[in-house]
Amino acid sequence: MKITVMTLFPEMIDAVINCSILGRARQKGLIEIEAVNIRDFANNKHLQVDDYPYGGGAGMLMMADPVCRCYDHIKEHAKAEPSRVIYMTPQGKPWKQSMAESFAQEEHVVLLCGHYEGIDQRAIDAIVTDEVSIGDYVLTGGELAALVVADSISRLVPGVLGKEESFQDESFSEGLLEYPQYTRPAVYNGQAVPDVLLSGNHQKIAAYRREQSIINTFNKRPDLLKQAPLTDKEKQFIHD
Ligand code: ADE
Repeated sequence: MKITVMTLFPEMIDAVINCSILGRARQKGLIEIEAVNIRDFANNKHLQVDDYPYGGGAGMLMMADPVCRCYDHIKEHAKAEPSRVIYMTPQGKPWKQSMAESFAQEEHVVLLCGHYEGIDQRAIDAIVTDEVSIGDYVLTGGELAALVVADSISRLVPGVLGKEESFQDESFSEGLLEYPQYTRPAVYNGQAVPDVLLSGNHQKIAAYRREQSIINTFNKRPDLLKQAPLTDKEKQFIHD
């Protein structure tokens, strides 16, 4: 799996991708993440990459030419043309776990980060296959959003998470939020861990966790329950 981030601030990407789980996965060669500086493809003396918008209005726009030339460079140096080019924008499709799962199947994904007031539409029309938003708020640029997307895709690549960090049993894997978890000591500040978790009865523990997941989702994200695969008995349980 390869992720290429097109950005005016590669140092923002570099600061994160060498740390923690992503850093370890890169070192092991399980994922490739690189930042390419769009400014390196400016075709003028002052390396200018932005200009005023036609029709007026506040702020500057990233020019089409350096963005397209940067993409051509990435394409020329790749084994095959990247299958997806995602433009990070608050106008995009809200990023979801199911999308991370789908993008994790791709061989090479490019993430395009906008800055200033955005990017000349002609560059977007020429290279972008998907537009993605990480939430209904506006960031100063696409880099933080690209890192969120890159992280959530990377951790789904086989081998990136160790056994202890498995994603089989986590929030969203069953369309539900996670159940509450406890570690030692068995009693902390007078609060005891639920008995069932100390029982050693794996069937009972699984049933307890499933019930807690449903309760948690009902209380915190009832919107998710509409799409969660629940049994008739579980639906009745919520109803009651
Ligand atoms: N760029 C600026 N804000 C953004 C957001 N919310 N999601 C994705 N990209 C962005």
